[in-house]
Amino acid sequence: MKEKIESLLEEIKKFQIQTEEELDNFRRNFTNKKGRINDLVTEFRSLPGEVKREVGKPLNELKEFAKGRLEDFQRQLKASQQVANKPHDLTLPGEPGVAGTRHPLSIVQNKIVSIFERLGYTIAEGPEVEDDFHNFTALNFPENHPARDMQDTFFVKRDPDFMLRTHTSSVQVRVMENEEPPIRVLAPGRVYRNEAISARAHCFFHQVEGLVVDEGISFADMKQSLLYFVREIFGADIEIQLRPSYFPFTEISAEMDVTCLICKGKGCNVCKYTGWVEIMGCGMVDPNVLANCNIDPEKYSGFAFGMGVERIAQLLYRVPDLRLYSQNDVRFLRQWEGISI
Ligand code: PHE
Repeated sequence: MKEKIESLLEEIKKFQIQTEEELDNFRRNFTNKKGRINDLVTEFRSLPGEVKREVGKPLNELKEFAKGRLEDFQRQLKASQQVANKPHDLTLPGEPGVAGTRHPLSIVQNKIVSIFERLGYTIAEGPEVEDDFHNFTALNFPENHPARDMQDTFFVKRDPDFMLRTHTSSVQVRVMENEEPPIRVLAPGRVYRNEAISARAHCFFHQVEGLVVDEGISFADMKQSLLYFVREIFGADIEIQLRPSYFPFTEISAEMDVTCLICKGKGCNVCKYTGWVEIMGCGMVDPNVLANCNIDPEKYSGFAFGMGVERIAQLLYRVPDLRLYSQNDVRFLRQWEGISI
């Protein structure tokens, strides 16, 4: 009997409550009529006199202790409910909110989009995990073209027909498949290439692709549109230069340079002392590509261009290392605080 009383006392001492349910639990277990203390009392009644004398006192103490505990618990619960229900004091000063800042690449992308919006372009999107047809085949890449090489492209391991898109030109195909000319779209997005990460290269970066298809679209239309864009984003004194180039999906193809913004064309290490910096690839949409997307190349022509957002950002903000864009160092990101575009 004595041991039973002691062990019950220990149990009660250890018991803690936080909720109404736990309080009920305590009552049911220990202090109710059907609780374990009363069981002991019943047992006590049938004991012989001399044993009664021995355990009477500790049993009474146990009862008193349990009663006190119950009252403490009730008080504690009531107090915590009062705190929870207390109306908020609206006169207290608020916690200062921490506002995030827009990422510099988003700012640059938004700037690019807003300029082309004024020329009537709309936004198009495509998936980042792309299939071979949209990323390569429809864009006139020959079967053994080096850009399909494992070194440049991240293929999906289980099915090499799928890959992370290597350029936003895949969105051109998706738009032409689904829309009739006149087409005038801009496709901003992230692209992936299997490059060693350094200050000047990363395994992912951002592009903005443009596509215009209609009757009678010419190279001159492209050149004028791009000149407008460049002067809007970099300033009215900026010149452009188009150099012949090659892309499987454009014919004729060009690369476009702008006056180096860092040295204003005088020559510096950013432009490798040429006075020019390349910002995009462009050209007339290859008739094969139009045909692959069920657009009649006899009737329609078009131009396309694709620019790197990081490169434009580098010229605008002189960010010296591409890795800074994805490190999320707030000291870097805070430099664009308050820019709202
Ligand atoms: N897709 C090309 C690249 O990633 C850029 C480009 C787009 C060139 C459209 C011509 C026309 O380099």
